[in-house]
Amino acid sequence: MSVEHYLSLCGGKNNITRVLAPDDELIIAVEDVSKVADSSLIVAIREVLGEHQVAFKRTRCFDEEALLKIGRMISEQQQLALANATKPAQCPHRPSWHISPPQGLLNDPNGFIFHNGEYHLFYQWYPHACVHKDKYWAHLTSPDLVNWQWQPVALTPSDWFDAHGVFSGHALSHQNQLMLFYTGNTRIGEQRDRHTTQCLATSQDGIHFTKHGPIIDQLPEGVTPHIRDPKIVRHNDSWLMLLGAQTSDLKGRLAIYRSEDLHTWQFDGLYGQEFGDFGYMWECPDLFSIGDETFAVIGPQGIESFSEHNTIPHHNGIARARFKSDKGIELSDFEHLDYGFDFYAPQTMLTPDGRRVMCGWMGLPDEIDQPSVDNGWLHQLTLMRELSVKDGRLVQWPIAELDALAQPEQSIMLSDQGYNLETKSFDLSIELEWGSQLNLFEGEGSKLMLIADQSRRALVMDRSQTLNRAQDTIRELPLTGDKIRLRILADSSSVEVFINDGDAVMTSRVFTESHATRISLTGTPSLARVKRLNPSRAPFAV
Ligand code: FRU
Repeated sequence: MSVEHYLSLCGGKNNITRVLAPDDELIIAVEDVSKVADSSLIVAIREVLGEHQVAFKRTRCFDEEALLKIGRMISEQQQLALANATKPAQCPHRPSWHISPPQGLLNDPNGFIFHNGEYHLFYQWYPHACVHKDKYWAHLTSPDLVNWQWQPVALTPSDWFDAHGVFSGHALSHQNQLMLFYTGNTRIGEQRDRHTTQCLATSQDGIHFTKHGPIIDQLPEGVTPHIRDPKIVRHNDSWLMLLGAQTSDLKGRLAIYRSEDLHTWQFDGLYGQEFGDFGYMWECPDLFSIGDETFAVIGPQGIESFSEHNTIPHHNGIARARFKSDKGIELSDFEHLDYGFDFYAPQTMLTPDGRRVMCGWMGLPDEIDQPSVDNGWLHQLTLMRELSVKDGRLVQWPIAELDALAQPEQSIMLSDQGYNLETKSFDLSIELEWGSQLNLFEGEGSKLMLIADQSRRALVMDRSQTLNRAQDTIRELPLTGDKIRLRILADSSSVEVFINDGDAVMTSRVFTESHATRISLTGTPSLARVKRLNPSRAPFAV
């Protein structure tokens, strides 16, 4: 019996929306169940969470190639259905120089890399609504990390190994190929059992990708199916794959695999035990060196915040990493990467001139209601930050390329009188005295407050007087020192506040009405330097 015969039993290829292959079954989800033929080959027709799934016994005709062929058919349909989702939803909150999705929900940046003369950046995308559902990899390219070009969607959740999401991962530019390593996510049955594999897709031209399926299809011992987000690094003449993992006793850890050829992988071990009980899952690892220092990025979920105002379980930080002489790595000195409301799942890459540049998701898991949702899109990526080490500490700073957007600098004496910048897109530098308060995006009844709170010795970001719909309204950054130097990059519905030359950063989306373009300062008046920013050529920027 041919694959085509099975597909015709399901009402033809246009009626097929998903393929799954758990155990000895082949499951095909269909759009219209009335088109399914009556056949003894069908073991069952099940309704799983509103989806009709036709189950067959998996026979030999469903070899690897046949399954990939079904995947390609589904992918063609999914690509066609994207035509509408790539029309940019109009919205006053749309950023003018950050990357945001045309419609639907954006989350993690993925596959950030320089390859064959240009930068590639992908992101997790659910195109059809502002919810976390079967993720795609959207794809952008850029000559300069500022102006981005939309490319055909690189990966869709079309195959038996990624039918419920082409989850996060990194890229490698290797032997002229662009290689994407990602996590394939599938959910089986009513109980949505999670099946996780680590998968590979490659491209010769950097635009069209061929999926090769799972390169790791079993779970290592001692972990749950929460193991994902591969990062590939070269170490001692081998390739290492780092994964965020959860142990069977629900502890977040780093899993490492090793390979000589990037296709066959051996499990090496679980690492990060030094951190003990430090969250129930670690997501989206990264690993890189700057000079002699090696750093690991992890996203621990379920750790306590130092701040009583932070009730969110999802955190993000950086740790020192040291390769051990026998195998594996040792972690120490965890520090938060960002102290604002919206920063998660960052990725870094190396520029041709040797700079380590980081981009993160300006958003958080679980949070799916903000004013932009009313116009059909949600979340954005952060600006690109150069990472460096100063006095042994990691420092973040906006990449120099962003200056290309800046209009001439202007000096403004800020006081409680306020100043109307007439734009929400600017790069502002100011020194705050303890006891003063900087109000950004000020309008009728709205403002974002940055308070140099002397009694708490903290810089406090307060979004209680904005259109924010998420639960927390306060973030704080403990600070010592006499003065607080700020560089603030703002863009329609976001601020990224670099504190004391990049020692710390507070990143947040800030929703205010369109005319909230005033800035004021209570306390001692102070001179601010400001550059209004022009829009970039970012797809869907306003
Ligand atoms: C982090 C994350 C990743 C996962 C992806 C799915 O935000 O949960 O661990 O691969 O999002 O979209």
